Amino acid sequence: MSFRTLHDRGVIARYREYLPVTDATPVISLNEGSTPLIHAPKLSAKIGRDCEVFIKYEGLNPTGSFKDRGMTLALSKAVEDGAHAVICASTGNTSAAAAAYAARASISCIVLLPAGKISFGKLAQAFAYGAKVVAIEGNFDDALRLVREIGETEPIAVVNSINPHRLQGQKTASFEIIETLGDAPDVHILPVGNAGNISAYWMGYEEFFSLGKASRTPVMLGFQAAGSAPIYHKRIIEKPETIATAIRIGNPASWDKANNALEKSGGAIDAVTDEEILAAQFWLSSNEGIFVEPASAASIAGLFKSLDPTSNRAYDAARFPEGARIVCTVTGHGLKDPEVIKEQCGSVISAKADRSEILRLIS
Ligand code: F0G
Repeated sequence: MSFRTLHDRGVIARYREYLPVTDATPVISLNEGSTPLIHAPKLSAKIGRDCEVFIKYEGLNPTGSFKDRGMTLALSKAVEDGAHAVICASTGNTSAAAAAYAARASISCIVLLPAGKISFGKLAQAFAYGAKVVAIEGNFDDALRLVREIGETEPIAVVNSINPHRLQGQKTASFEIIETLGDAPDVHILPVGNAGNISAYWMGYEEFFSLGKASRTPVMLGFQAAGSAPIYHKRIIEKPETIATAIRIGNPASWDKANNALEKSGGAIDAVTDEEILAAQFWLSSNEGIFVEPASAASIAGLFKSLDPTSNRAYDAARFPEGARIVCTVTGHGLKDPEVIKEQCGSVISAKADRSEILRLIS
């Protein structure tokens, strides 16, 4: 394999013609994207009626979340525009990605995080990639407001998803799904926080549909955490709370775009409780072998809720057509937040280094 071939990976290389780049754009990439779309037989069986569920495992991106797709574009464009520094607010994954791509581009990165509400794995990433980490007394929404203000007056590029290049990069996940399945799925399910990702997926699906690369667009189903569900409740949540800290957001930046995607796709927004999220996280890892962080499990919890006739579900899974193809995006790797799973189910069996004792304990 030539160096050139190795170099030609990543979402800008793969989807250059659909992205706002030119030959003058320096490509800042870590070979992100091209994540697996994994068939989930046990989830499929839960739905029945010949439906097939696929998991888009975005935790396998270079920094462990889907944010890398948008960050390759945001950093490439920032460098093209002459930026020497980037800044973002984050619940942890955006900051990890921004820090990694800024390191790659040899420019500085400042991240504003809600103090005490970031999983340690994500905080460790920001440090490891050399970012300047500022923990504010406030939540993500406060941090994003401050970043917007700083971006207006200082020569620092904002790389939150209010930067349109981010969503352009993230839409490539829809392209990959269409290319893998040969068409768009019938239904697409994903967690919603700041609402950039659902907006980006919809943009990607609409784009490939209008180019004739897909015969349909999917029904989009978004799930928020019950304590942080502004779109579901149709009002700003001043003090959002959830164990799924990645989606602990009360005033999403892409609220209108998400509503447009939900409306045009005939989809729905719903909320799942922390208990449902944790149960779905463990179910997915222990049944399908796919370990995701709590926020990502909101999509699986959401599918379970849509299947449950006793719930106050916003969308009834009985509406999925027979033989439907359903894609659930799981946005971040489980190793980002190992404490949560340890608290859920982690008790080790202590033993002496003795064969017969071990056999007795495991029988
Ligand atoms: N899942 C994970 C793991 C996330 O980190 C996020 C957002 C989402 C889902 C929701 O995506 O915001 O596009 O609706 N994380 C942002 C961050 C807010 O700062 O890392 P969204």
